[in-house]
Amino acid sequence: MNSPFHVAIIMDGNGRWGLKEYNDRNKGHFYGLQNIDKVVKDCIKLNIKFLTLYTFSTENWNRPKKEIDYLFFLFKFFYKKNFNKMFKNNIKIKFIGDLKNIPNDLKIIIHKIEKKTKNNNLITVIFAFNYGSKSELINAFKKISKNKKNNITEELITNNLYTKNIPDPNILIRTGGEKRLSNFLLWQLSYAELFFVGKNWPDFNFFDLKKIINSYSKIKRKFGTVDE
Ligand code: FPP
Repeated sequence: MNSPFHVAIIMDGNGRWGLKEYNDRNKGHFYGLQNIDKVVKDCIKLNIKFLTLYTFSTENWNRPKKEIDYLFFLFKFFYKKNFNKMFKNNIKIKFIGDLKNIPNDLKIIIHKIEKKTKNNNLITVIFAFNYGSKSELINAFKKISKNKKNNITEELITNNLYTKNIPDPNILIRTGGEKRLSNFLLWQLSYAELFFVGKNWPDFNFFDLKKIINSYSKIKRKFGTVDE
């Protein structure tokens, strides 16, 4: 079996779910957050070693201030509440994205949590926060040119991305029914298998994940070669 070890998820559909169930988009984010907890446990059960979650994109700044403020409130609430639990459960937490423009109190929590969980190794959960693939690539090219490197290789670019030392995802899942990548891990998903799910993120569950993992395990990954 092609055992997956890195799953990346675009957790789309929170807003629509919240509107439908509670007439409130933010309720969708609240329940979306509860679902993260469950899906991390599901990934551990399925022996997935890396889980990357798209939690806030560089484009999400264009949302109404009320929604952005609520998302930031949720982030703080989540990290404070789960800090010790993640540490004790051997979960390593990492953040990828541009952390320069985010509120200071959040930055402090992020650094603390990364530092505290850095030696854990059951699963690495990576939160893409203020993340955009294009800005990640621009940032990498700037670092490369600053270091006056002329021999541009795939390895050099990979090593200058936020995801340095993280293997590329085997699988990308997008919930919410849309079929696009929305500026998420464009370099890293070059060879990923893509799965688009109609359900909104708060409804995504263990059986959906298991079904995807089963489908993935039946795919013969050829990486540009031909069958022998
Ligand atoms: C996309 O749904 C979801 C987001 C932009 C935010 C994801 C956030 C969470 C799952 C909760 C908070 C997470 C943490 C780690 C604290 P959407 O709002 O675009 O939904 P829509 O397409 O129905 O409008």
